[in-house]
Amino acid sequence: MKFFIDTANLDQIKEAQDLGVLDGVTTNPSLMAKEGITGDDNVIKHYKAICGIVDNNVSAEVISTTYEEMIKEGEALAKIDSKIVVKIPMIKDGVKAIKYLSSKGIRTNCTLIFSPGQALLAAKAGASYVSPFLGRLDDISTDGLQLIEDIRLIFDNYQYETEILAASIRGPLHIVNCAKLGADVITAPLSAITALLKHPLTDSGLAQFLADHDKAAKAAK
Ligand code: G3P
Repeated sequence: MKFFIDTANLDQIKEAQDLGVLDGVTTNPSLMAKEGITGDDNVIKHYKAICGIVDNNVSAEVISTTYEEMIKEGEALAKIDSKIVVKIPMIKDGVKAIKYLSSKGIRTNCTLIFSPGQALLAAKAGASYVSPFLGRLDDISTDGLQLIEDIRLIFDNYQYETEILAASIRGPLHIVNCAKLGADVITAPLSAITALLKHPLTDSGLAQFLADHDKAAKAAK
């Protein structure tokens, strides 16, 4: 399973990259705004900076919502760096834009997926990734993980190459459950990724090992 980090924060991207387990980055207009990135030049500069940190797979989302504008913006984003994956919303013109961009060899990530039917349409259009939003479904008392399971079944039935990129991850258990269900990729905040490291028995076990080592070393003096 690939691990992406869901942020536009350069320090957090660097920290995840340093951990040695990072396969990519996903951003969206809200995450870019959170970092204060506005204006075409700054946006391009920021994507270049992200591409300079990670090896591949940097999702950059279009702001436009019509077919013509989305393909123009998508082509411009793709020109920034070969690591860029153009993120397109699941709307009618978005599906058309995914079809066009994928026919030009530009990788796409269809975002704001909340139903298996939306994922099926995006795969048919040739999306490289679909992004089902788990946490936002959970927030409205709907089972986000069930969506991952349903999309996995559909994609496997027809051998779609589109990868399931589980998004809107809220914690480490979402990541583990996505892995159990066969999601190809998770994108998560740094806090959810690093939470995977933690177990109280690891901490107490290590403390005991080191204490035993010290005791034996002192006794040997
Ligand atoms: O990348 C988009 C997605 O992960 C959004 O997450 O936490 O805003 O629902 P969230």
